[in-house]
Amino acid sequence: MLNIAIAGLGTVGAGVVRLLRQNADLIAARAGQQIMVRAVCARDKNKQRDCDVSGIKWVDDAPQLAGLPGIDAVVELIGGADGIARDLAVTALGNGKPLITANKALIAAQGVALAKLAEQNNVPLFFEAAVAGGIPVLKALREGLAANSISAVRGILNGTCNFILTRMREDRVDFATALHEAQQNGYAEADPAADIDGFDAANKLAILAALAFGVEPDFAFVRTEGIRRITPLDLAFADELGCRVKLLGIARMGDTGLEQSVGPALVPMTSPLSQVEGALNAVQLQTSHTGHIMLQGPGAGSDATASAVVADLIDLARGNRAPAFGVPVAQLTKVNPGPAHKSRYYVRLQVMDKPGVGADIMTILRDEGLSMETILQRAQSATESVPVVLTVYEADAEAMRRALDKIARLATVVEKPCLLRIED
Ligand SMILES: NC(=O)c1ccc[n+]([C@@H]2O[C@H](COP(=O)([O-])OP(=O)(O)OC[C@H]3O[C@@H](n4cnc5c(N)ncnc54)[C@H](OP(=O)(O)O)[C@@H]3O)[C@@H](O)[C@H]2O)c1
Repeated sequence: MLNIAIAGLGTVGAGVVRLLRQNADLIAARAGQQIMVRAVCARDKNKQRDCDVSGIKWVDDAPQLAGLPGIDAVVELIGGADGIARDLAVTALGNGKPLITANKALIAAQGVALAKLAEQNNVPLFFEAAVAGGIPVLKALREGLAANSISAVRGILNGTCNFILTRMREDRVDFATALHEAQQNGYAEADPAADIDGFDAANKLAILAALAFGVEPDFAFVRTEGIRRITPLDLAFADELGCRVKLLGIARMGDTGLEQSVGPALVPMTSPLSQVEGALNAVQLQTSHTGHIMLQGPGAGSDATASAVVADLIDLARGNRAPAFGVPVAQLTKVNPGPAHKSRYYVRLQVMDKPGVGADIMTILRDEGLSMETILQRAQSATESVPVVLTVYEADAEAMRRALDKIARLATVVEKPCLLRIED
C-alpha cells in the first residue's frame, strides 16, 4: 500500500482525492498496490470541499505532512514559486519522501535545486501535471521519445489565452469581454496577469525545454509577450491570410543556441496547431526518429490535472525512478540562449490615409533587405486613419525589428504597430 499526504484541496487537490476514490480498483491494479490518502492540509479546515476528506487526518501546517509517520509520498497542490509550497517540497525531499507536484512556477524557478535534493535523498520528483495539465507530454519526452533528439517544441500552453483568442475570433468580441467570459467560465483567475501576459506559458515552456534539450529550466531566458494588444481586427486579418492567432511557446535548438519564446503568432490553417481551439492545449514535438508528434487535450481543470497527478503516483507505486528532467541534474547544461529564428511576419499599422505613405514604408523595408509579400487595407474611415496589414517574406528578427522602429517613427503612422510572427 502507498500511503500519501496531499497539501492543497482546491481545484486539483479535490480532483486527486475524487479520482483516487472513483477509480480505486483500476488504479490499484495498475499501480500494483492501493494508493491511500492518509493526511491532507489546506488553509481553511471548515471550508466546503469538492471531495470527501472525512476520516483523513488533517494537518494545519503543510510541511508537517512530510514528517508524519507512515507517509510514503507527499503531493504538493498549493501553488506558488516559493513560500509554503517550496517549504513543503524541500522538507519532503529532505526527509526522503518522494514529491509529486502540479506546480509549474515552483519547478520552473526551483526545479534544479529540488531535483538535486531528490537525487541526494534517492527519491523521485515528478511533475507531469505542471505542463499542459492532462496531456502526458513530459512522460512522452522522458520515456516514449527518450531515444530521439528533439529539434523543436511548439505549444499552445495556456488554455485561458486560447479561449480568449477563440472567442475574439468567433464572435468578434473585444479582449476585455473575452477575458470576462474566461473568468466566468472558471478558466481565468481573478488576477489573470500570469496567463494573459504569457508568464504561465513561459514557466511551462522552460520545463518542456529542460526535458527536450537537457538544459536547466530557466524562464529568465524565455522571451515573453502576452496577448493584451491583440484586437478583433488582427483575428479578422489573420482569417483573410488563412491563419489563426495563437499564443505559442517555442523552444528550438539553433546553430548558436536555444531559442525560447512565448508570444502571439499567426499559425497557418494548414498546421494542426491552428485547429486547437477554446481552452484546449497542444504540444508539437519535432523529433529525430519519430517525425512530428502532436499531443492535444485539456491543459487544465480538476479532472484532467488530477489524471496527470495520479499517473505520477502510479509511476511511483510501480517503482519508476526516472530522473526528474530525464537525465541526472549534473548532466543538465546551462541555457545558451540563441537568437529568434527567421520567419515571415505580420505587421498591422494604423496610418493616415494620405498619398506617399505606402512608398515610405516600402523604402524602409527595402533598406533593411525585407520584401513585402501581401498588403491588406480596410476602406476609408471617419477617423482619417486606416488599418493596413503587411506580411513580410521570411526575415531576420533583428532586421524586422529595426524596420518596425523606423516605420513607427513615420509621422503618418498614428499608433504603435503590431508585429506578429507567422509561424509556418
Ligand atoms: N487548476 C488547474 O487547472 C491547474 C492545472 C495545472 C496545474 N495546476 C497547478 O496546481 C496547483 C494547485 O492549483 P489549484 O488550481 O488547485 O489551486 P486552488 O484551487 O487555488 O487550490 C489551492 C489549495 O491550496 C490551499 N492553500 C493555499 N495556501 C495554503 C497554505 N498556506 N497552507 C496550506 N494550504 C494552502 C488552499 O486552501 P483552501 O482551499 O483552504 O483555501 C487550496 O485548497 C498550482 O500549482 C497550479 O499551478 C493547476
